[in-house]
Amino acid sequence: MKKGEIVVKAKYISVDPYMRIQQSALNSWEVPHPLGVVQGSGMAGEIIASNSDTLKIGDWVNCYTGWQQYAIVKDTEVRLLDTKIATVSTSLGILGMPARVAYFGIIEAGKIKTGETVVVSGAAGAVGSTVVQIAKLKGCRVIGIAGSQEKMNFLEQELDVDATINYKENKTQESMVKALKTACPEGVDIYYDNVGGVITDAVIDVVNVGARILVCGQISQYNHALDKPEMGPRFLHKVLYKRITIQGILARDYNDRMPEMISEMGSWVKDGKIKYKETIIQGFEKLPKALSGLFDGENTGKMIVKV
Ligand SMILES: NC(=O)c1ccc[n+]([C@@H]2O[C@H](COP(=O)([O-])OP(=O)(O)OC[C@H]3O[C@@H](n4cnc5c(N)ncnc54)[C@H](OP(=O)(O)O)[C@@H]3O)[C@@H](O)[C@H]2O)c1
Repeated sequence: MKKGEIVVKAKYISVDPYMRIQQSALNSWEVPHPLGVVQGSGMAGEIIASNSDTLKIGDWVNCYTGWQQYAIVKDTEVRLLDTKIATVSTSLGILGMPARVAYFGIIEAGKIKTGETVVVSGAAGAVGSTVVQIAKLKGCRVIGIAGSQEKMNFLEQELDVDATINYKENKTQESMVKALKTACPEGVDIYYDNVGGVITDAVIDVVNVGARILVCGQISQYNHALDKPEMGPRFLHKVLYKRITIQGILARDYNDRMPEMISEMGSWVKDGKIKYKETIIQGFEKLPKALSGLFDGENTGKMIVKV
């Protein structure tokens, strides 16, 4: 080990929808993931050897070392975890990358204001379940879209979401528009989009003048429409009439502001103002299955593999 390096033993490894995007042949925010290299991902683990002046054996850290059980990494490339705030697994979810894009996305890019109506797709997942709670804390009416009755119950009963819509029972744009109009009698001011496709086509029909649409993810498109996009309705005229702002948001654009997010979210989590759920799958060999489970809705909250 070189000076400043540590060895980290993985305890929790992340699976995230972006890993599917990396399998596309086309460039996205980066070049396609090459074959024959370790799948990149976040990991929370314990230091088992240290040649660092700042980190010692027994410290828990979060690092981006991918799907491997042990990693040698520089001490400057890890985040020391405060185990007094929450369990270390939260560094992959409610106090990690998904929370970062949720927090800065809805607050800064979304310019959320008290009293607004906020619709969130993929609402019971890692990002979505964080966004709905921040929007509730900011005094908004919040509508969550998810794919099962169990997830709708979770959103309404545990996260205090005002109304929910099951997109699997509203498969056409017309049916989704009807459900949205019932759930949002005053229209939609912010749409936090994790899913894309028909759900998004429908939300654009019911947004108010001056609405903000935050494109965080398009998971409905990742399995079949990355290399050859699925054609949808042409809606830019609606963007014109309603002066809608559509903005893409990427977690990595807020990397250097992690301490700011942890400071506020950490105290919300500690005080019980923000709740979190994790779907934890046991076993290193289950990583690929856990990843594909994201596309079958097998998780509520953050999907994590414990090794
Ligand atoms: N921009 C960024 O920096 C950034 C960072 C993190 C995540 N994201 C994006 O944000 C979205 C959510 O990510 P996450 O990590 O929080 O994952 P997640 O929501 O925890 O898990 C994925 C969920 O997506 C839903 N889903 C899967 N296929 C679907 C489909 N065809 N139509 C509708 N819903 C579908 C499933 O829930 P149901 O049971 O409700 O279907 C599933 O549980 C993804 O699109 C991801 O790419 C973006």
